[in-house]
Amino acid sequence: MDTSLWLLHSLRLDWPVDWTAVFGRSAPLLLEIGFGGADFLVDLTVSRPEANVIGVELSLPSLKKGAKKLQAGDLRNGRVVQGAGQLVLWALCLPDSLDEVYINFPDPWPKERHHGRRLISDTFLHLLATRLKAGGRLDIATDHADYAAWIVRHLERSPYFVSRLPTTYVNEDPERITTKYEQKGFDEGRAGHYFKWRRTETPAPNLFPIPKELPMPHVVLQSPLSLEEISRRFTPQSDRSENARIELLEMFQSTRDGKLLVEAYVREEPLAQRVGLTIRRREPGDMVVGLHEVGFPRPTPGIQLAIAHLARWVVGLDPASAIVRSNVGVEIGD
Ligand SMILES: C[S@@+](CC[C@H](N)C(=O)[O-])C[C@H]1O[C@@H](n2cnc3c(N)ncnc32)[C@H](O)[C@@H]1O
Repeated sequence: MDTSLWLLHSLRLDWPVDWTAVFGRSAPLLLEIGFGGADFLVDLTVSRPEANVIGVELSLPSLKKGAKKLQAGDLRNGRVVQGAGQLVLWALCLPDSLDEVYINFPDPWPKERHHGRRLISDTFLHLLATRLKAGGRLDIATDHADYAAWIVRHLERSPYFVSRLPTTYVNEDPERITTKYEQKGFDEGRAGHYFKWRRTETPAPNLFPIPKELPMPHVVLQSPLSLEEISRRFTPQSDRSENARIELLEMFQSTRDGKLLVEAYVREEPLAQRVGLTIRRREPGDMVVGLHEVGFPRPTPGIQLAIAHLARWVVGLDPASAIVRSNVGVEIGD
């Protein structure tokens, strides 16, 4: 069953996405974060044929299920996107582009030491506020009483949202279908808390610019050392800039052509990438440090930092080494 029309991967899409091109039409944009079994998502897609509906999920089985359900109904106004809601909002959606956002039964993370993992936070609400249009809807549901109190606190102190109801939330919402997770809560005696809020007119400073993509990074350097010698001297290392943190974890050598592959972890909000950096010989004495294409890496400023760090480290191993050419901000003669 080919569901490729319906299933998209956040790391393979343009930042931001041209949703009009994806759906083949311009229409109000609705987003559900963490759609799970996709019952609500499918219902929304069917009941709102005039809208373009995007479901976001981390879980691959949920994504496959969602894509199959959309395909089975030939619901061409719906798509599912693999990725974290935060990444999809930040990198894929332009400011003031969303009309409605739905979050149904986000993971409650009940233990206090895990509260930092909860989706709803001041930062997340600010991010949402930059992407939702003024007057746009924000609907959140939870059956976890402590998370409900947490959501109340966060929504009430945000200048960017106001309840559409006379109360902060209601315990029943006959307008909506019951999701699988919701039904499980009812069966176990938990009450629903339904927040129906609206984006206010208060402008939200865009602290979350669409991440930049840069040209494929490379550094050409001269070193008298052999690749084997460089590999022997490698030790795990890390570096950071204002916006990125990198770790060079391990170095491997190809048995085919001797090139070196460095496993690197690059963290820069809103994404984390595990990538391969390469060091290969070009001509006698010359080496190129670059980015391996395995895993569809995105050439961000954090990746540039990783390549610059690796190149500087190689050059620092021997006084007769030097950077010859670079497009990643490492100066020649560093
Ligand atoms: C408790 S389940 C609820 C599923 C569904 N909304 C329902 O009501 O049945 C939470 C879902 O959110 C997804 N999820 C958790 N964190 C997420 C994130 N940052 N972005 C997108 N989805 C997320 C999980 O994979 C899971 O499917």
